Amino acid sequence: MEAMGVAAALGLLLLTAGGSTGDEAREAAAVRELLVRLLGPGPAAAFSVSVERSLATESGLDTYRLSGGGAGTRVQVLGSTGVAAAAGLHRYLRDFCGCHVAWSGSQLRLPQPLPAVPEELTEATPNRYRYYQNVCTQSYSFLWWDWARWEQEIDWMALNGINLALAWSGQEAIWQRVYLALGLTQAEIDEYFTGPAFLAWGRMGNLHTWSGPLPPSWHLKQLYLQHRILDRMRSFGMIPVLPAFAGHVPKALTRVFPQVNVTQMGNWGHFNCSYSCSFLLAPEDPLFPLVGSLFLRELTKEFGTDHIYGADTFNEMQPPSSEPSYLAAATAAVYQAMTAVDPDAVWLLQGWLFQHQPEFWGPAQVAAVLGAVPRGRLLVLDLFAESQPVYVRTASFQGQPFIWCMLHNFGGNHGLFGALESVNQGPTTARHFPNSTMVGTGMAPEGIGQNEVVYALMAELGWQKDPVADLGAWVTSFAARRYGVSHGDAEAAWRLLLRSVYNCSGEECRGHNHSPLVRRPSLQMVTTVWYNRSDVFEAWRLLLTATSTLASSPAFRYDLVDVTRQAVQELVSLYYEEMRTAYLKKELVPLTRAGGILAYELLPALDQVLASDCHFLLGSWLEQARQAAVSETEAHFYEQNSRYQLTLWGPEGNILDYANKQLAGLVADYYAPRWRLFTETLVESLVQGVPFQQHQFDRNAFQLEQTFVLGTRRYPSQPEGDTVDLVKKLFLKYYPRAVSF
Ligand SMILES: *[C@@H]1O[C@H](CO)[C@@H](O)[C@H](O)[C@H]1NC(C)=O
Ligand SMILES: *[C@@H]1O[C@H](CO)[C@@H](O)[C@H](O)[C@H]1NC(C)=O
Ligand SMILES: *[C@@H]1O[C@H](CO)[C@@H](O)[C@H](O)[C@H]1NC(C)=O
Ligand SMILES: *[C@@H]1O[C@H](CO)[C@@H](O)[C@H](O)[C@H]1NC(C)=O
Ligand SMILES: *[C@@H]1O[C@H](CO)[C@@H](O)[C@H](O)[C@H]1NC(C)=O
Repeated sequence: MEAMGVAAALGLLLLTAGGSTGDEAREAAAVRELLVRLLGPGPAAAFSVSVERSLATESGLDTYRLSGGGAGTRVQVLGSTGVAAAAGLHRYLRDFCGCHVAWSGSQLRLPQPLPAVPEELTEATPNRYRYYQNVCTQSYSFLWWDWARWEQEIDWMALNGINLALAWSGQEAIWQRVYLALGLTQAEIDEYFTGPAFLAWGRMGNLHTWSGPLPPSWHLKQLYLQHRILDRMRSFGMIPVLPAFAGHVPKALTRVFPQVNVTQMGNWGHFNCSYSCSFLLAPEDPLFPLVGSLFLRELTKEFGTDHIYGADTFNEMQPPSSEPSYLAAATAAVYQAMTAVDPDAVWLLQGWLFQHQPEFWGPAQVAAVLGAVPRGRLLVLDLFAESQPVYVRTASFQGQPFIWCMLHNFGGNHGLFGALESVNQGPTTARHFPNSTMVGTGMAPEGIGQNEVVYALMAELGWQKDPVADLGAWVTSFAARRYGVSHGDAEAAWRLLLRSVYNCSGEECRGHNHSPLVRRPSLQMVTTVWYNRSDVFEAWRLLLTATSTLASSPAFRYDLVDVTRQAVQELVSLYYEEMRTAYLKKELVPLTRAGGILAYELLPALDQVLASDCHFLLGSWLEQARQAAVSETEAHFYEQNSRYQLTLWGPEGNILDYANKQLAGLVADYYAPRWRLFTETLVESLVQGVPFQQHQFDRNAFQLEQTFVLGTRRYPSQPEGDTVDLVKKLFLKYYPRAVSF
């Protein structure tokens, strides 16, 4: 079979999961309602939206068709599904109206009358699926969302053509019913679940107990949200992926069933066994299919099903045995528990395990997992394909269908970063791989709300066979749409960012922010980057030059803050290098100068700039947490969950600063005090003539970190100060320094 043939055949096999023709009217209505939310009722009336299944290609691929527009004529948007129609609408707004739909502030100024589509335009996607989310996005980004925020996100998903996404909320409420039915006590269940901010890892069996228990109100609220999320996703014709049983069970199951065969896994992520080392049910134990089907039956009774289920047994955890027969049995057990309840079940597996522990997952081990499920029934997410694609070394997942996913972001970190060239080429290369079984493209960031340009490109690629021909031209038009005006300096700034921070490749290329700004200081910090810092400083200057024209654009102000933030991140590295050099040479004056500027001036100035934009406020993140609570005790508990996630991650800084963010409040009260302590400790060391002791410093730093986490200070949840004034002030003071290093 030639390359496209294999994927198309598998795509067809998976098509059974799609919606039926009877839903056309419902899907069209959902897109019309989206239009009203996006543009308001007046402008929305200038569009006519319909859904016709027959528009799909012969092999069933999503298609949209645009026509009409111009004076006195409505714009006609036709889609094979609601999602396809929404993607067509987005295409029209983007390419004909120059609009931009964005997390950081949409630009939706419509030309009047609406531009005509000169020739009927029909576009089909090359793949069955456009996937969205990572199990961790649920914890790093969606954690405290209410329905209003979810609604916005599902609109964003539809406009970007996403037709497959996790719907992960509320699963603990279902598990609670199952465990109670199995004879566990409420106290045992409460002891098992993690707190809200760490559920992603509880669900994968990495953690239990830590930062829990979940209050009853949490379960109720998540059940309510999940129903609304599912209704809305389905109304667009999206396929929500529900969770299934992967094999992890609470320890208390062994109290109720003393004969049960469980294996205790090793510890995870520097957590000890009080919080990790979860119990895995043996695949041949009769309880395996029982627990698995109890859960799936209860879940689908509550929520219905679209027949695709996610489960990850060995995510970042070494299996108890590397015997292929064991791995095959463990995999088959998960699949059989699914099909016992839903004979049409397709299993969505995160392929992260294969690339995270390549030394364990040799060819025999990978083959055991991939071969344990009938071909076409295991849908693998090649999760980090822009950097370490797994399909290339597994013969396209040995014939199982896979989705080429860009992971891009770890921990929801800020920090300008992207591998745009690799993202741009990746899906096409994967499609042309010999006997490719690629059936989709996807975005699987651990956290969202940063580096929007990367997501905009990836979303477009979901509807294209070929890479964007000229990324320079593409990013130029991206900037013009984003700000609503073409501005030479702003566009030049974006081309500089493209060739530097967004053209990442090689060793130092990290989606995870390791800037000294957000890390506990030491004398061994790495400051090398994959780009020329001058490009960032020059982009900063150019954006500032454009402020007089563009300052009224919210996305522009966001970018001005974000690039200033990045410039400060670069400056921190440069001042830190000065400090280290001075310290090693035992030169007190340059040490105090560099350390003094960094800790007492630069970071407080950054905090002020961040405080001027609603997207960079610790206060609004913590306020969301508090709003999710039904009592002051709960509000305090939720806030502490949030503070832990952003900083220490575990009780002792177990995964310290992994989910670092650069937020107003966090910079002033967490990062800056740590840098002040470091500066003072080094100065003290030179003055007293005693060596710097990293261990002692770490202990003292931990005290500061913990004080922040346990603190109760309230931070503003509304922006304060004028962004442009604050950026100018910072620029005038530091730009000369930036370019003279
Ligand atoms: C795990 O660490 C916590 C502190 O973080 C401690 O209280 C607990 O005793 C430890 N448990 C084990 C099993 O070592
Ligand atoms: C328990 O499960 C393991 C792993 O599947 C298996 O090797 C072992 O034989 C089982 N033990 C018993 C007593 O059934
Ligand atoms: C592709 O599949 C065909 C038919 O199964 C096989 O003969 C051929 O060797 C495969 N090509 C590669 C490169 O694996
Ligand atoms: C990115 O870098 C590569 C070399 O590593 C270069 O060939 C390519 O042109 C660069 N792309 C952009 C958009 O600057
Ligand atoms: C970085 O860019 C600046 C300004 O364009 C240039 O002077 C410098 O040589 C570049 N540095 C490197 C290492 O390429």
